[in-house]
Amino acid sequence: MSEEGDARRSARPPGRAAHGAGEDRVVSPVAEGEEQAIEAALRPKRLDEFVGQQRVREQLSLVLQSAVRRGRTPDHIMLSGGPGLGKTTLSMIIAAELGRPLRISSGPAIERAGDLAAVLSTLSEGEVLFVDEIHRMARPAEEMLYVAMEDFRVDVVVGKGPGATAIPLDIAPFTLVGATTRAGLLPAPLRDRFGFVAHMDFYEPAELEVIVERSARLLRVDIHDDAATEISGRSRGTPRIANRLLRRVRDFAEVRADGVITRELARAALTLYEVDERGLDRLDRAVLNALMHTFGGGPVGLSTLAVSVGEEPETVEVVAEPFLVRQGLLARTPRGRVATRAAWEHAGLAPPPPPPTTGTLFGVGDEGSE
Ligand SMILES: Nc1ncnc2c1ncn2[C@@H]1O[C@H](COP(=O)(O)OP(=O)(O)OP(=O)(O)O)[C@@H](O)[C@H]1O
Ligand SMILES: [Mg+2]
Repeated sequence: MSEEGDARRSARPPGRAAHGAGEDRVVSPVAEGEEQAIEAALRPKRLDEFVGQQRVREQLSLVLQSAVRRGRTPDHIMLSGGPGLGKTTLSMIIAAELGRPLRISSGPAIERAGDLAAVLSTLSEGEVLFVDEIHRMARPAEEMLYVAMEDFRVDVVVGKGPGATAIPLDIAPFTLVGATTRAGLLPAPLRDRFGFVAHMDFYEPAELEVIVERSARLLRVDIHDDAATEISGRSRGTPRIANRLLRRVRDFAEVRADGVITRELARAALTLYEVDERGLDRLDRAVLNALMHTFGGGPVGLSTLAVSVGEEPETVEVVAEPFLVRQGLLARTPRGRVATRAAWEHAGLAPPPPPPTTGTLFGVGDEGSE
């Protein structure tokens, strides 16, 4: 609970300002600086260009089509999923499919209820309001949003103290599209006010391959099919990473060869950028190496582990760990982080023998049931 509270209040979005190696990692799921402009050019504009997430796409298509057919604004829509999976892209697609304007805001930008009132009261009928990182909105604004979502009304408070009065103000019916990378941090009353919640998952390699090929066409890059396969396999299930690896490989192909991306060339480039077959990069490997070699496989606490690789705990936790956990290479246990058998095998080593039982109650602690 306290971790959740901290994350809600934290001035920095988790993973957004990852320090050190987190910032310029070629496999970071977070977009930095000028990358955002490049991404805009690669964004699919309509639902039928959007690759993968088939269930979400079908459900969303129904929600939007029936709203258009009835001439009504659709239910409010929540998009939840990790960084780089396509939430911002989908919000733009939603507005395009509805043929409505899109207003973009974000939780951290809405510090006071007044900030939100200013946005809500100037929406035009049917406008789509996208609130990114909605879990980080200030509490008083959140309460104002509840009323706006349900009754299309804001209560503007005039005056202070006992004499303060709330003046109800009608606002145009709109569609809220909320996005969050941390669905667990959404307060239930907010979550319940969305008529449709889309959970975006990591992409399959075959889907990423289609994305890489599509982006290559847009960037006018000549890429062989097996090279696209190679890149998508190392993209950690994330379109943003796939697009970034493609651009890095293109740079390599232009400088070191004739610009055509072959499989050998893609492999050579990705080796140079230190992204291995599974998509692990230097930070991931540093974490695993420290875990296995410095701490004998763990368990070890997050901050100790972070210090040993010269990173902030947040970087290790938000940037490296989720992927390592998903790959089954690292496990979080109540006593700390441990390297799994797969991690030892990935490093080409034999796992150490299980530790001797250490005075566990009733002597059943070594069953590995924890
Ligand atoms: N389904 C998809 N098909 C094709 N390209 C995609 C898809 N999803 C995402 N992309 C590409 O990946 C990039 C990142 O997507 P987007 O910005 O929508 O992610 P996000 O979920 O909003 O990330 P964040 O949490 O960091 O805001 C975009 O450039 C977009 O072109
Ligand atoms: Mg986004």
